Amino acid sequence: MADELMTYDPRGVFLPEHGISPAELAALGERLDDARDEVLADAQLWADAVKEIPAEKEPLDAGFHELPDRLLADYRTHRANSELGQIKAAADRLASAVGSAVVLGIGGSYMGARALLEACCHQYYNEVTAAMRGGRPRIYFEGNNVDNDALVDLEQLLKSREERWGIVVISKSGGTLETAAAFRILLRELKEALSREAAGGGAAEREVAKFVIPVTGKSGKLFELSKSLGCRDIFEVPDGVGGRFSVLSAVGLVPAAVMGLDIERLLAGAAAMNEHFRNHGPDKNIVLQYVGVCHLMEERGYTTRVLSTWGKRLEAAGLWYDQLLAESLGKQERGALPLTVVNTRDLHSRGQQHQEGRRDKLITNLIVEHPSRELLHVGKSDLNQDGLNELAGKSLADIMAAAIEGTNQAYREDNRPTADIRLPRLDEYTLGQFFQMMMLATVVEGRLIGINPYGQPGVEAYKKNMNAILRR
Ligand code: PA5
Repeated sequence: MADELMTYDPRGVFLPEHGISPAELAALGERLDDARDEVLADAQLWADAVKEIPAEKEPLDAGFHELPDRLLADYRTHRANSELGQIKAAADRLASAVGSAVVLGIGGSYMGARALLEACCHQYYNEVTAAMRGGRPRIYFEGNNVDNDALVDLEQLLKSREERWGIVVISKSGGTLETAAAFRILLRELKEALSREAAGGGAAEREVAKFVIPVTGKSGKLFELSKSLGCRDIFEVPDGVGGRFSVLSAVGLVPAAVMGLDIERLLAGAAAMNEHFRNHGPDKNIVLQYVGVCHLMEERGYTTRVLSTWGKRLEAAGLWYDQLLAESLGKQERGALPLTVVNTRDLHSRGQQHQEGRRDKLITNLIVEHPSRELLHVGKSDLNQDGLNELAGKSLADIMAAAIEGTNQAYREDNRPTADIRLPRLDEYTLGQFFQMMMLATVVEGRLIGINPYGQPGVEAYKKNMNAILRR
């Protein structure tokens, strides 16, 4: 398969009214270039393993940038002994031992894995036969809330199946309450399930560690707990890689490998985006173009950024981006509001407002060029009461293309700005590009507007109160 790069087309923002001009975008080029240089220099600090981060840069979690290249190089040299080799082996071991795996994590420790499952796996992944999943386990996400009934229902579901199950627990800090509480409860359940089995001559409770893969920092509560449990593999969230920038570390790679996804292709896509980012000037660089358009539109009052995904498989990728943008730039009483929509579904709910509501929305379409499966056609029918025989030769992909074109035409006719991100197809390689493009764009924009994109001091407030309330 050709290694095509995704594209960004900003022409829909060049409007006679309420838009920007190509000249304005070009005039921003020098500042975009400077911001890119700063981002490259930040990454170099981590690549050189510089331990002293200048105070004005703190926090600086720029380790995500070179990570795909570093992991791939390590894999090419050390194969089975590399981090990637060990992730694959551990994931294969778990996948062959269990029928279901529960992935525990929240925020950046959860959303990337969910995006990968929805984008790259079968739409009915958990419902199809094991053979249709390539022999991989069903995947459930938990530890991303404290919803009693949801967890009880999951426990019931796991119990009702006469098969083994396992846990991938992910927390960089190792102390996030939502994830820690779910882990404790499910670990208890898993031990009970194994001791029931042992009574019948099956696995013993002490074998529980074989069914758990932790991903966490070099130290901390989860790290200590995993060691005491006797987990064979404890994968590390590297220093300098923040939660929402961690999808291409063990945080996203372990669950992806359990699903049987091609994690090398995922990283190769991200590495291709890195190369593009390094080697193209602002007029050809899709990361810089994207940042330039978003920034100029925001300065004109377009403070809502709609990521308009077309089709059903990119909603979770959009929600991953919502978190990335909101937690990175929503600081100092600034930052655009991210909003993911799924079209054509949401044309029937939000479409009215996007067409005629307040002029504060920049719509970026996220379009997949080619479906992965065979094309379905409307076809002829003797029952033509629906009048669809005149569209008999059209495929659903043709209808989708018409919906995209028609919607953007309607926006353009009312001077409503749009831009298009196009993925040639939906697979690990293009998802890797997308993740890396959006992470780079977010940090470039932070540097452009003088907001540190790393850290999330605002999230601490609720945690502090919640913990105080629980202990009073
Ligand atoms: O981006 C971030 O850092 C956060 O969203 C974290 O990913 C989230 O709070 C979960 O943290 P942890 O992985 O430490 O449990």
